[in-house]
Amino acid sequence: MLDKKPETTPAEAQPIPFIDLVTQRKRLGRAIEEAVARVTQHGRLILGPEVEAFERELADFCGARHVVSVANGTDALILVLRARGVGPGDAVIVPAFTFASTAEVVAGVNAVPVFADIRDDTFSMDPESMAEAVHVARKAGLRPVAAMPVDMFGQPADYPALEPVAEAEGLWMLADAAQGFGGTLHGRNIGTFGCATGVSFYPSKPLGAYGDGGAVITEDDELDAALRSLRNHGEGAFAYDHVRIGVNSRLDAIQAAVLRAKLKIFPDEIAARNRAAAYYSAGLADVVQVPRLAPGASSVWAQYTLRLADRDGLRAHLQEAGIPTAVHYPRPLHHQPAYRDFPTARDSLPVAERLAAEVVSLPMHGYLTEAVQDRIIARVRSFFRA
Ligand SMILES: Cc1ncc(COP(=O)(O)O)c(C=O)c1O
Repeated sequence: MLDKKPETTPAEAQPIPFIDLVTQRKRLGRAIEEAVARVTQHGRLILGPEVEAFERELADFCGARHVVSVANGTDALILVLRARGVGPGDAVIVPAFTFASTAEVVAGVNAVPVFADIRDDTFSMDPESMAEAVHVARKAGLRPVAAMPVDMFGQPADYPALEPVAEAEGLWMLADAAQGFGGTLHGRNIGTFGCATGVSFYPSKPLGAYGDGGAVITEDDELDAALRSLRNHGEGAFAYDHVRIGVNSRLDAIQAAVLRAKLKIFPDEIAARNRAAAYYSAGLADVVQVPRLAPGASSVWAQYTLRLADRDGLRAHLQEAGIPTAVHYPRPLHHQPAYRDFPTARDSLPVAERLAAEVVSLPMHGYLTEAVQDRIIARVRSFFRA
């Protein structure tokens, strides 16, 4: 009988994950088992010491006064709107190019999302379009009360340009940093812009749990107190004292323990994501439009997103070589069936509409090797040679 050689997959044919949670898991080693065991042993399964410690550590990480953890990033946003009393007759200005949650939470409190266009370079809400959206809202008989910029793909929104518009129009700002936590702008951490910041710990986010999770970050003592009450059935000063109508939106204690372990390696992962983004850009900028960072901005690279006319052609070409891609988002929100009847800053929002047809994201995480990136870069380049 002939000896059969063991079959091995050559390096160039190994499957490439879009987000590599397996390598991260290996790196975390026993830290996860220990975190889970800690919770099961002390038995404080709802809120309690793990959640409190995580909130403190997250606040320290970004230099904020308060962190209120909640069940997911969507709840983080909607609970701020509820705490601030946003409701029928109110309008909140949101970008048209974002995940559905940004507008969903506004409609969810029976207020009206008004869609603004985004900037062509950084994909964040355009200040001029935001001002136009405010006027459209007023003309429609609505009360514009807030704006919700989004840190698109991990890059901070253009807060310094949006703040004066918000101030002039009498709006407060809620930062949707579901994708942006860990980024900075002019040396200031995400979490310190606007009246509050909503964060998501969805597993694929840069700081992801092993399940759902979210948090609100704020400097505002009153908002902090209202959110703590709202997330736990409107609790008051003692057990079964209910001072407002609340919800159950608590961060699970085991997820808090997991997030504490992940937060320890987060700075290192952010640095690795930045190295990976720079490596992609160095290898691709001469053939395709690569992401652009605004001056003074550092991204946490939730996505590394290219822009090109034949986006679908490139996707198919990469797919043939086992390279996964993703499109965030194929349709702007104001064209979605659920949202198309809400007002927009103008009849068309050309940047958001064009982007939805042109964007494609490459694999991005803190464990990309240069060898894997070389394979991806070579394949992208070969598309443009063909
Ligand atoms: C921009 C944006 N806002 C809000 C959310 C909602 O976060 P979650 O999925 O934790 O509810 C997401 C999540 O994908 C998001 O990308």
